[in-house]
Amino acid sequence: MKPLSSFRAIPFALALVALVACKPATEQHGDHAAPTAAAPALIPAPATLQTSDGQFVVDAGTRLHAQGEAAQRVARLFNGFLAKEKRPEIPLADAGAGGIRFEIAAGASPSSEGYVLDVKPDGIVVRAADERGLFYGAATLLQLLTPANGDKVAVRALHIEDAPRFGWRGAMLDSARHFQSVDEIKRLLDAMALLKLNVFHWHLTDDQGWRIEIPKYPKLTEIGACRIPAGDAGIDPATGKPAPYCGFYTQAQVRDVVAYAAARHIEVMPEFDVPGHAVAAIAAYPQLGVTGKSLPVSNEWGVNSNLFNTEEETYRFFEDVLGEMVKLFPGRYVHIGGDEAVKDQWIASQRIQQQMKEQGAKDEMAMQGLMVARLEKFLAAHGKRLIGWDEILEGKLPESATVMSWRGTEGGLEAAKQGHDVVMSPSSDLYFDYLQTRSANEPPGRPSIIEMKQVYAFEPVPAELPADKQQHILGLQANMWTEHSRTFARVQHNLFPRLAAVAETGWTPKDRKDYASFLARLPAQLPRWRAQDVEYARTPFEVELQAEAGGSATAKVSLSNPLGYPDIRYTTDGSAPTATSTAYAKPFDVVVPTQLRAAVFVDGQALADANTFDIDAASLLSRGNNALASCGKGLGLRLEDDGPFKGERGIYNVDIFNPCWQWKQADLSAIGAIEVHAARLPYNFQLAHDETSRKFQPARTAHGELVLRAGCEGAELARVPMPAQPDADGFVTLKAAIQTQPKPTDLCVYFTGDTRPTMWVVDRIALQPN
Ligand code: ACM
Repeated sequence: MKPLSSFRAIPFALALVALVACKPATEQHGDHAAPTAAAPALIPAPATLQTSDGQFVVDAGTRLHAQGEAAQRVARLFNGFLAKEKRPEIPLADAGAGGIRFEIAAGASPSSEGYVLDVKPDGIVVRAADERGLFYGAATLLQLLTPANGDKVAVRALHIEDAPRFGWRGAMLDSARHFQSVDEIKRLLDAMALLKLNVFHWHLTDDQGWRIEIPKYPKLTEIGACRIPAGDAGIDPATGKPAPYCGFYTQAQVRDVVAYAAARHIEVMPEFDVPGHAVAAIAAYPQLGVTGKSLPVSNEWGVNSNLFNTEEETYRFFEDVLGEMVKLFPGRYVHIGGDEAVKDQWIASQRIQQQMKEQGAKDEMAMQGLMVARLEKFLAAHGKRLIGWDEILEGKLPESATVMSWRGTEGGLEAAKQGHDVVMSPSSDLYFDYLQTRSANEPPGRPSIIEMKQVYAFEPVPAELPADKQQHILGLQANMWTEHSRTFARVQHNLFPRLAAVAETGWTPKDRKDYASFLARLPAQLPRWRAQDVEYARTPFEVELQAEAGGSATAKVSLSNPLGYPDIRYTTDGSAPTATSTAYAKPFDVVVPTQLRAAVFVDGQALADANTFDIDAASLLSRGNNALASCGKGLGLRLEDDGPFKGERGIYNVDIFNPCWQWKQADLSAIGAIEVHAARLPYNFQLAHDETSRKFQPARTAHGELVLRAGCEGAELARVPMPAQPDADGFVTLKAAIQTQPKPTDLCVYFTGDTRPTMWVVDRIALQPN
């Protein structure tokens, strides 16, 4: 395979053409009653696109001509995608004029990923210099054919010359914290390929699970692939016995995934994380750890201080694992992790300190650098390049090593300046375990919001990077960590639609990117994803409501949409809103009680199902967890309770450093009591050096108390002892009388005591009038 970096250049620059401003064409093709062809809404936007008069109608009579093995492979994949969308395939035919032609022709595009696509009234031609480019041309054609109503699709006449900006357009999936089936991973690969993404980074080893079969070390998967989840979720309610959570990929399954990805022009890059994130391996083989003690596979999230040791035997283990990986994964890169390896154990180990002296490592980071250097040599001898998280820059790094910048872009900038290749995947912009909206319908994750606009705005090449080093920025990658995403539906929710923005940054020339245009094209992508069974997040397309009590029997309501689509329609008579329902213009008053239903419309279509809001006296006097602010800025998480694995669970925002919630500027002027509905969650976190940031407020009674304050540093309003256990439903309801407060008050609510291994969280606060 060619170096990915050779794909970077966009060698041609044709006229810029607006992608979304065009009006639908009106002409019809022959006597077909096909829908008129609208301007194409392609994602990622192609490098160049020119529309012209006329159209071609694809219908049951259309044939697909593909000359040669490679073009026929692309044609079969193309038809496979149509079949997945439950649409008629386009029959392959040997020759003939008109119809659709897939051609591989030397010189068709200067880029191996580039293609040229022409739609004319007499047919469609997709041309590329090689199979990869032809595949991307076919992916564009598939978008041109979707959405389709009925069995005829009119495609507007156009000319596209296209090639990617970056050679690395990646997505990482963490299969260690939660496990996805091979079929689920294939679904993700399909969706990636159709967005023209080309690197699948597979995070296969971590503290909470070892997910790849290595025959020489059977315990890696016999022991390391299972953990007992924290709390009730780790107990089988039928037997009361531990209920392990397990999963690994056999070598045959890995080969299957790799082949499936390769057919879709995606390189699968495995990650074996060393020397940290090692607990599952150490649980299987305690001699790999620093202490030699046996450990369970971790069921805690965060940063675990158990590291691999630096014995020769352990290096043999590393080489055995990597030796299997280089055989299984034909791509160029192997990821060796290197992140978050807190060195306390190495510092405390006399043996490792002695080895450091013998090997000339001045400190523990230098010792990690020696480890990286040895692994780099091994991988190079097997024709592979080493890549690691940006921490590896802190040791002496072999010149050929590639750096994946996650702690911001600074590590990537520094690495590129030093001449290393770099992939940008900063947690600030491209970590998709961070939530995308403030909606109460978001699944668990990290409640700092990385919204679409921010993802789209991310620029992989830092402005400060000298021009002669810019070729070292290979591209960008979104990372999907799965501590808080236990189902594939949730994984997809967090990835989509944001992955479309990553795809556009990776593919589209910088000066062709335009957020308003992207948002205008995005609605057309939704029916494609629905047809392909991609369970994208609906929350960005839904209506959010804020209601404040107005006079005695009214509330002031404001409506918004996270992506800012302007056409919000609503009803107050219980009916489902349509494109002709009342348009929302500005905050308005409703009588209480009112049921309000609202949806966002584009071109007469609702972007998502309507949301229903019941605005009544009780709802105006209460706030759910999601509508409460955190009291400080610690480590915010959005967590589930530990109900049964398959059942419904509550979801709560909580700052695990300082679990405290506030209702800002609450009107307590006529309030005589406050009711707090609290839930209990497992507390299962390893915080390493951040452990001391975790605050427990002193308790005065055996099980701690609920405390209410007027302002987080202000006067105590009430204190109520907590019970030892929640009620049978998993919750407790606590009621506290308070003095009325004449002025609007930041009502702060927290619980005292060190309650580990569990933690109380506020589910809902309800104000009770005098
Ligand atoms: C990372 O997020 N620890 C790479």
